[in-house]
Amino acid sequence: MELSSFGQRFQQESGIDRLMVDLGAAMAMPGEKYMLGGGNPGQVPEVEAYLQQQLAFIANDTKKFRQMVGNYAAPAGETHFRRALAALLSETYGWPLTEENVALVSGSQSGFFMLFNAFAGECEDSSKRHVLLPLTPEYIGYADQGITDDLFTSQRPTIELLDNNQFKYGIDFSALEVTDETAAICVSRPTNPTGNVLTDDEVSQLAALAETHDIPLLIDNAYGLPFPNIIFSEANPIWNENIILSMSLSKLGLPATRTGIIVAKPEVVQLISRMNAIMNLTVSSVGAVMATDMVESGQILKLSKECIQPFYKEKVDQAVEWISEEFEGLNYRIHKPEGALFLWLWFPELSITSQELYQRLTDRGVLVVSGHYFYPGLDEPWDHKDQCLRITYSQDPATVKEGIKRIATEVRSLDTL
Ligand SMILES: Cc1ncc(COP(=O)(O)O)c(C=O)c1O
Repeated sequence: MELSSFGQRFQQESGIDRLMVDLGAAMAMPGEKYMLGGGNPGQVPEVEAYLQQQLAFIANDTKKFRQMVGNYAAPAGETHFRRALAALLSETYGWPLTEENVALVSGSQSGFFMLFNAFAGECEDSSKRHVLLPLTPEYIGYADQGITDDLFTSQRPTIELLDNNQFKYGIDFSALEVTDETAAICVSRPTNPTGNVLTDDEVSQLAALAETHDIPLLIDNAYGLPFPNIIFSEANPIWNENIILSMSLSKLGLPATRTGIIVAKPEVVQLISRMNAIMNLTVSSVGAVMATDMVESGQILKLSKECIQPFYKEKVDQAVEWISEEFEGLNYRIHKPEGALFLWLWFPELSITSQELYQRLTDRGVLVVSGHYFYPGLDEPWDHKDQCLRITYSQDPATVKEGIKRIATEVRSLDTL
């Protein structure tokens, strides 16, 4: 089979593919499993009940049923939902939005593929432009999205050591370089894998920098405000015509509907809409129609604030408590848990690589993700890249508790080797 360079790019092994294949293979191994590796949201009972009710209501309403599954939507996505969301965001945050500022994509993952490749890569003047990730560790899902090589540049963070074995990453603005080759700046906030939430001040500085250089700032808000609101620190969302805000219905509880949302100036929305038409004709309306009433009534804000946020807050606090009990005496730190579904563990004196630790934990039935995956665009050697693990705290408590216990036992055994 002879493939084009585009085909070859997808045929070769990628970090995210290796990770997903590894997780699948580890799950298929016989024996007990403690799954702290994936990115599935937890099932929040009130949200699940609400969505089930919506689905039953739609199934019995012919007009809504057709809107959901019987018709192709506009290429920018289901119009009622886009209009309702623009109104909700305008009312909540005062942003001047209409449906022309909102495009739907098949999961925000594919939205990033479109946006990264639309802005960066080879340009008409033969220059090669890249996306700047101002802080790594950053979401592994970005890493292999370029249809050209070296799509990302990134840099190390600052590290602030905090009480209670915690730490927090920050953007090292003194080293941040935006050049003529920088096509866009991108951050996830809250960040997968670390649970970091960039401060309002950091985001304002990035927004100003992007504006000065006339490049867009992409903010990945998959876990953020106003929904799903898996965020535990003070943070205010921002948007202006130079910011492309990506949102998602996945972590609200609808990952399988593949509904990503891009909020941007109309020119960008039109670009996405045209890409949707070429790649998909349009995107699925299932998630959008299921969520329209929720958005129109503002119920999505109430459920996010009163059910989703407390659901995860309780889980994260519990997991941190278990870690401090089980890890007593070990040299470890946890990134301050400010949002998202993960805890990021740092073992500054780890005597093996994080990938080796991952392998040993898999042998003990505990599935985690090795931290070394999360440095897209950061090629320089740095010990820290091999000293961290990502664990998901959002699964059932017995699994998380036992998983944490086994991680402690494994790391302790290394310390005494
Ligand atoms: C930071 C971040 N961005 C984007 C995505 C993609 O989400 P989806 O394609 O389900 O909207 C994820 C998924 O885990 C994520 O963690």
